Amino acid sequence: MAPDQPRPVSILLDCDPGHDDAVAILLALGSPQVRLLGISTCFGNCAVEDATRNAQRVLALAGRADVPVAVGAAGPLVGDVALGNYVHGVSGLDGPPLPEPAADPVAEDAVAFLRHRLLEAAEPVTLVVTGPMTNAGRLLRDHPEVADRIAEVVFMGGSTERGNHTPTAEFNTYADPEALDVVLRSGVQVRMVGLNLTHQALATPEVVERMRAIPTGIGRTCAAWMGFFGDSYHRLWEFDSPPVHDPCTIAALVDPEVIEWREAFVAVELDGTWTRGTTVVDLHRRYPDQPVNAQVAVRLDADRYWDLVIDALHRLGDAP
Ligand code: RIB
Ligand code: CA
Repeated sequence: MAPDQPRPVSILLDCDPGHDDAVAILLALGSPQVRLLGISTCFGNCAVEDATRNAQRVLALAGRADVPVAVGAAGPLVGDVALGNYVHGVSGLDGPPLPEPAADPVAEDAVAFLRHRLLEAAEPVTLVVTGPMTNAGRLLRDHPEVADRIAEVVFMGGSTERGNHTPTAEFNTYADPEALDVVLRSGVQVRMVGLNLTHQALATPEVVERMRAIPTGIGRTCAAWMGFFGDSYHRLWEFDSPPVHDPCTIAALVDPEVIEWREAFVAVELDGTWTRGTTVVDLHRRYPDQPVNAQVAVRLDADRYWDLVIDALHRLGDAP
């Protein structure tokens, strides 16, 4: 880092790779503004065993098997397991062949791993969550003493508008609404990156061509991932180009200007017959007695976003 550059933001990434989680991992690894301390995995796009293997394969692809990976929750705090293989394929990261994992997961489970990394860090760490909130919810429920070691939770989930997994609920918040409720009530600073934002992060043919033009295996792999992911989004939700959700959380830490935020009271529905997992985002203070508890992403500078992603992929080069 140049001497006048701010120190990198230290992060722990809790994820369910997943094509867009995989790009988020590469964005974090390829951005000098971010220091990835470790990854914890969660059920979501696929079973947690598959999400763990996928995270390790992405790290092997980037030549970063040194990044520790901890295995997390196989299901939500309450209720049934919802999986997203219908979007991400049988493996959870279908598409091009990937290197085999080059290391084993750490012996600790995700909650113990996150707790230890937070307590041993010299200063508070940013917790980025791009899958169901289960690991973070369990961490804050069972170990509230770590709350002041978390600089903020930046999560991809929910929406100020409609859902995707159900007409009103986004997948990550649908998969474990109780865990999100714990985090929203914890007093930890929260930034929410919902579908209303990530649907501005479309991997258009021009973006995919920029990925493909990167003369490395990483560039070709990301372009191929967009192909599979794009086919799913066209088949399921009639998108012409897929919204690449999860890297938006990392981009906000790489370049604070890339996203515009609004403060709001945010709640998650736990009981609705048709609306369980829906986020209620009060952008206009219609519940004046409810406290503001989150910053909500509302506008993306898509050109800057994709420049950040492409620059990071270039910086990674090819695994040694
Ligand atoms: O609804 C989109 C979110 O659910 C993304 O994080 C995607 O990876 C899945 O986890
Ligand atoms: Ca995800």
